[in-house]
Amino acid sequence: MIDDELIVQPGGVLQGTLRVPGDKSISHRAVMFGALAEGVTEVRECLMGEDVRATIGALRAMGVRIDELAAGRVLQIHGAGLHGLRAPATVLDCGNSGTSMRLLAGIVAGAGLGATLTGDASLRRRPMRRVTEPLGLMGAVLTTAPNGTPPLSIAAGRRLHAIDYVLPVASAQVKSAVLLAGLFADGTTAVTEPATTRDHTERMLRGFGVDVIQRGARVSVAGGQTLRATALTVPADISSAAFFLVGAALAGQHALTVEAVGVNPTRTGVLEILRLMGAEITCENPREIGGEPVADITVRPSTLRGIEVPPTLVPLAIDEFPVLFIAAACARGRTRVTGAEELRHKESDRIDTMASGLRTLGVQITTLPDGIEIEGGALTGGLIESHGDHRIAMAFAIASLRASAPIIIRGCAAIATSFPDFVPLARRAGLRI
Ligand code: S3P
Repeated sequence: MIDDELIVQPGGVLQGTLRVPGDKSISHRAVMFGALAEGVTEVRECLMGEDVRATIGALRAMGVRIDELAAGRVLQIHGAGLHGLRAPATVLDCGNSGTSMRLLAGIVAGAGLGATLTGDASLRRRPMRRVTEPLGLMGAVLTTAPNGTPPLSIAAGRRLHAIDYVLPVASAQVKSAVLLAGLFADGTTAVTEPATTRDHTERMLRGFGVDVIQRGARVSVAGGQTLRATALTVPADISSAAFFLVGAALAGQHALTVEAVGVNPTRTGVLEILRLMGAEITCENPREIGGEPVADITVRPSTLRGIEVPPTLVPLAIDEFPVLFIAAACARGRTRVTGAEELRHKESDRIDTMASGLRTLGVQITTLPDGIEIEGGALTGGLIESHGDHRIAMAFAIASLRASAPIIIRGCAAIATSFPDFVPLARRAGLRI
């Protein structure tokens, strides 16, 4: 449990070498694909945060045996096979996790099971039509609340057929939901994305022996393929590393290195944006773990400048904007982000939540429908409401490094969704929590 209110004193310095937990997106997929595979899949370094636990709980409710060995460091998933899931006897609670709800919707609809998926107050505000529409086109029958939000119910007994779908918004969750449903469908299901999004589903399905065909922006899978159990290790999460990378750029005295971080090119927008802002970042010891590129990332204390963030980088850094906004607030000059309307549909409205927190700290902000303008300068202390959004809470903890007075952050329990060890790790690295 993480205290819901954290007080972070100014003046910390981040440095040293550290490891952050496993990648959240990859952990969800490892559990889900292991459940659909034939045989026993072993997953090392799986993130055991609340979001992935919601996925584990949902799959257990559908009859999958999942054992936690070595104090949760190794997961053994006894695959049920593509047609071995059972309809759950209870509502599937996805907690705070959009990835659980959207990807499981694809699996449950594909498997032709009747189920209802719900979540916490934040998840129950998030848009689900983006998955119910394509799954409906495939022949599934899904219902949501009138405004397209959860609970999301799926009718039993529908057999799906393939579709050739062009995503209206760039979303790896929707792409994955459709491809997963496609594994169960008659024919070959294809998804074309308007901008590149994370490709963990495509990579990992291949690791489970599925033939995934990529032609430019169009990716397809034929239905009826068998997933074969495998063993894999989850790389450290670049989204969790980002807090320390920004913190060390802002308030380091020496270098800080985060080890074995996933550097899949569909996720490294944060590094590119920080480099454009003037950060000195190097990726060393490149290698591959579980079909994903990994490196040790080192950042040196740097003087950051405000930039116009290229919209093409937005989907590649979508989860890192809260802490990038902190970097911008501490940079020299103005930073402008556009093309980021999706930030309004995350665990909170991350444009408004960040804007109001930064204004509390004395930063000049203009919000745009699809982005933000941040005037870099000095930060005061103050009381910040994270609106139960884990990445907002952690971003403001990093802001303390450059604040003139303590920052009190409310709603920090949510940090456990993605980074249960954030507080002890951040203390060890030099944050004064
Ligand atoms: C995720 C995809 C992204 C990201 C989310 C995790 C995934 O969402 O923001 O935290 O695991 O596929 P969208 O695909 O909706 O952009």
